[in-house]
Amino acid sequence: MIKKCLFPVAGYGTRFLPATKSMPKEMLPIVNKPLVQYGVEEAIDAGLREIAFVTGRGKRSIADHFDISYELEHQISGTGKEKYLSSIRSVLDKGTFSLTRQREMKGLGHAILTGEVLIGNEPFGVILSDDLCMNEGGEGVMAQMVRLFKQFRCSIVAVQEVPMDQIEKYGVIAGESLKDGLYRVDNMVEKPKAADAPSNLAIIGRYILTPDIFDILRDTPPGKNGEVQITDALLTQARNGCVMAYKFAGRRFDCGSVDGFVEATNYVYENIYTPE
Ligand code: G1P
Repeated sequence: MIKKCLFPVAGYGTRFLPATKSMPKEMLPIVNKPLVQYGVEEAIDAGLREIAFVTGRGKRSIADHFDISYELEHQISGTGKEKYLSSIRSVLDKGTFSLTRQREMKGLGHAILTGEVLIGNEPFGVILSDDLCMNEGGEGVMAQMVRLFKQFRCSIVAVQEVPMDQIEKYGVIAGESLKDGLYRVDNMVEKPKAADAPSNLAIIGRYILTPDIFDILRDTPPGKNGEVQITDALLTQARNGCVMAYKFAGRRFDCGSVDGFVEATNYVYENIYTPE
């Protein structure tokens, strides 16, 4: 029912300079796999096999990563090294990959609107690959959200409780609690000061959006930091209809920060990576 997943990957990754000077931050490896591949695997596992990237200048290696590398395939064919390509081969077998370029950085809302050409008029997932989500042994976060979408048919954002001294880094929701971990959103604020935050429930980079979001985004003026915010568009959608927030099962690492990136690396090395 939901087939497409949008990946806004046009950001500069300034916090990781100089590593990100000529390399997209989404290609930084968590152990042996680029960050963006974890997100793409999560989408594909949730049945979202049409992957749409909103990229920008300097991001060509993302397109190359999700394509065959003939020289490499030829070089290692029939050798013991083929196993190192198995995860990306499996992704390539299952998914399709398309991309469009965002020419100006005008915020996450603007990036999502730029992706309209790849999505069209159907509900879709959004994954911000900086937020690495792990649910070892259980369903991935996007799969959990797809299940909820089948029930409620409205936009859904993933949320997590965060300490109040961290809240100003996030979009924050407030809403009526329907059942454990599920809220009907009635307020949303992008990156509020702790004193103005409507709760401690922070939006994490997983969304399911209904396609009316595009028209709303077109009419959404720049908000926090002068950028078009998806949080503001979702608040309009919540006021006119319904938006749900879902406290997902699993662990999330903020790989947009150096601390979160190192934590994720240690976690994957200790719990997921299997040395050859
Ligand atoms: C974006 C969103 C924010 C959300 C966050 C999750 O912010 O604007 O609402 O909480 O992603 O990672 P960014 O981290 O891109 O500044």
